[in-house]
Amino acid sequence: MNEIWYSLEATELAFRVGATWWFPMIESIHVLTATLVLGSVFMVDLRLMGLAARRYDVGTLITELVPWTWLAFVLAVVTGCLLFIVQASSYASNTAFLIKMAGLVLAGLNMGWFHAYLRPTSLQPSAGATGRRKQWAHSHATVGALSLALWCGIMLAGRWIGHLV
Ligand code: HEM
Repeated sequence: MNEIWYSLEATELAFRVGATWWFPMIESIHVLTATLVLGSVFMVDLRLMGLAARRYDVGTLITELVPWTWLAFVLAVVTGCLLFIVQASSYASNTAFLIKMAGLVLAGLNMGWFHAYLRPTSLQPSAGATGRRKQWAHSHATVGALSLALWCGIMLAGRWIGHLV
């Protein structure tokens, strides 16, 4: 793998980003897009936990916010890759970076599970079905809380990367 990292570091693009003001500019955009990802994800997570935006049903909130999450996520990945190639071999063995990547995978699995299995049941069960209502609320709250914890971890690990390089 080190050959791959060294060949990335040797690219003209990695040199241009690393040796100029582009690095801090791209890192600033990375932090801005990362913040937009977290802000939009947090609002949906807090709704799933029944702690915020309770006047809006889950489906409406997801329809309104998730396109912004995806836009910001794509920009965070593009800017993150540009930062990564500058010191690829060093980041690839950076504990904080590896924890962040693992967090991104777990957050993706959690979100995928929600959209594949839970979202189709996002219409709250009818008032009479208390058992199903409790189970619905509990499973949505669990996914929301797990997502919130994972994204906080991703942000903290991201912040720590620069201190371990
Ligand atoms: C939405 C997902 C992501 C979030 C929330 C995120 C968040 C962060 C945060 C908060 C920082 C610290 C910035 C600073 O200290 O100024 C950071 C740094 C960094 N991120 Fe990300 N990031 C994400 C995705 C990625 C991806 C996909 C990559 C690369 C494949 C990446 C590569 C990096 C690198 C290399 C740094 C360290 C730059 C340095 O040396 O300070 N990030 N990220």
